[in-house]
Formats: sequence, C-alpha cells, structure tokens
Amino acid sequence: MLKIAVLVSGGGTNLEAILKKIESGEIPDTEVVGVISNNYGAYALERAKNHGAPGFCISPVDYESRDDFHKGLSDKLDELAPDLIVLAGCLIKIPDEVIKKYKRRIINIHPALIPAFSGPGFYGLKVHEAALDRGVKLTGATVHFVDEILDNGEIIAQKCVEVKKGDTPEALQKRVMEEAEWVILPAVIAEIARGDLKIG
Ligand code: GRF
Repeated sequence: MLKIAVLVSGGGTNLEAILKKIESGEIPDTEVVGVISNNYGAYALERAKNHGAPGFCISPVDYESRDDFHKGLSDKLDELAPDLIVLAGCLIKIPDEVIKKYKRRIINIHPALIPAFSGPGFYGLKVHEAALDRGVKLTGATVHFVDEILDNGEIIAQKCVEVKKGDTPEALQKRVMEEAEWVILPAVIAEIARGDLKIG
C-alpha cells in the first residue's frame, strides 16, 4: 500500500482528482494518510473530510517563528510517515530539512510546461497571466520531483494544453486544470503505486 500525504493551500481540486481516482481504483493500492493545509480556510480540507481523509492544518499563524512552523510541519509528517508527499496546490516553500529527509519522495504539480513560467512569483493565476502576456500557443502542466530550488527538480510528466483566442487567465487556468493537472498528477501517483516509477 502506497501511503501519501497531500499538502494543500487552496481549493483542493487536484486533491479531489486524486481522492476520486483512488476510490475508482485508477490509482491502485494507495491511501491518503493525511491532508495538510497551511491555511485554515482552504476548501481542500472540506474535500478531505467529504472523502474521509484525515485533514490537518499546520499554519504559520499558530507558531512563534518560521522555524517553529517548519518543525511543526516536519513533526506532523514524521507522525504520518508517508511513502510519498504530494504538493497539490501547495503555496508554501517546503523546508530544506523535509526535502532532504524525503529526497525524491516529494512531487509537485506546476500549472505550466517547466521551465516556462516557473520559479519565484509564478503560482496560481499569475502563471496563466504570464503565458497569455507572452502569447504562447501551447501551455500545460508539469509533475516534477521537489528539490531545494523552486520548480527545479527532475521532470516526471508533462501535458500540453492549447491556448485559445480570447482566453482570459481564468479560462486558461480552468482548461489547464481539467485537461492537464487533474490527469497527470493522478497518473504519476498511479505509476508510483504500481512500482513503475521508483521513488526515494
Ligand atoms: C491552481 O492554480 C493550480 O493550477 C495549481 O494550484 C492552484 C490551486 O490548485 N496547481 P487546487 O485547486 O488547490 O488543487
């Protein structure tokens, strides 16, 4: 059984895609041992509850310092002891000590074709605004391993999405989520669960 911890910050649509595909069996032999949000208001926590997945909020507001917050997150992960950590719409920088401890066992979904529109400042809607500003005809999403540099780790999977005439950032984000993110993130987890992609 592959035990995964999913880190979230917002709406949780990628989490929803993962939970649904575990329930349908498209992602085999996998259990979400915990959903951890840095934000009490994240609807992702509601989605976790709706699917019976344990939800936790580890928020900087509850800690004296950034170091204490990092320790709180690291301790929760130690308690859950996942095989794999999935960043699904997670907007916090993962502490280096966690990245070291879970080397090549943390994956992230980025809503662009890395290296395009990635790195500091490129998250959420900003990614799609930049893609439209540049006038690219194709964009998409990327699943990659997480290392100490933002959006820099080994690329695992990518999926292209067409940019359409008149697209707003919101319309493009929706298409990238529906046609790419919600497809390749569960697919990579299924590949890991089947043993077809080695982690660690
Ligand atoms: C979205 O912008 C998505 O493209 C990116 O994180 C944001 C929220 O995703 N991965 P989610 O709905 O919380 O999964």
